[in-house]
Amino acid sequence: MSTFNEEICVPIRSDADIVVARQKGRALAVQLGFSGSDPTVIAAAISEVARNIVNHAKQGEIVLTGVHESSRLGIQVVARDEGPGIANIEQAMQYGYSSGKGMGVGLPGAKWLMDAFDIKSQIGKGTRVTMQKWVR
Ligand SMILES: Nc1ncnc2c1ncn2[C@@H]1O[C@H](COP(=O)(O)OP(=O)(O)O)[C@@H](O)[C@H]1O
Ligand SMILES: [Mg+2]
Repeated sequence: MSTFNEEICVPIRSDADIVVARQKGRALAVQLGFSGSDPTVIAAAISEVARNIVNHAKQGEIVLTGVHESSRLGIQVVARDEGPGIANIEQAMQYGYSSGKGMGVGLPGAKWLMDAFDIKSQIGKGTRVTMQKWVR
């Protein structure tokens, strides 16, 4: 799998930044050929991982890129931060689990909305969520 075009990098520290990341993700999705509800679905997944940066890590960034693998084309969303990290990823991925006052559906929801989902986290170092969705 390789990336193409330039990266779109959105710094995330506030609700307004989440809106920007959503909008840029939706625009890139349309540009890449996603149609129907897909751009909205992708924007929703971006929203969840960006919100987690604000709520759980204070600041970080969303990096959006086009990706291709063999003959298929897609979008890659990376959410990364240098926040506190996640002690138990299996627990964090459980539907309804929140360490705070959240609904606990952000991570499992984002995974469900995208085609591929990977989360890496180290305590005290930060968290990186990498997701892809392919144009159908
Ligand atoms: N970027 C992050 N940094 C640290 N912890 C995180 C991050 N993203 C998610 N988490 C942890 O994973 C849990 C589950 O995330 P999520 O499903 O989005 O639920 P919510 O955000 O509603 O709590 C959070 O409660 C939090 O403990
Ligand atoms: Mg969340």
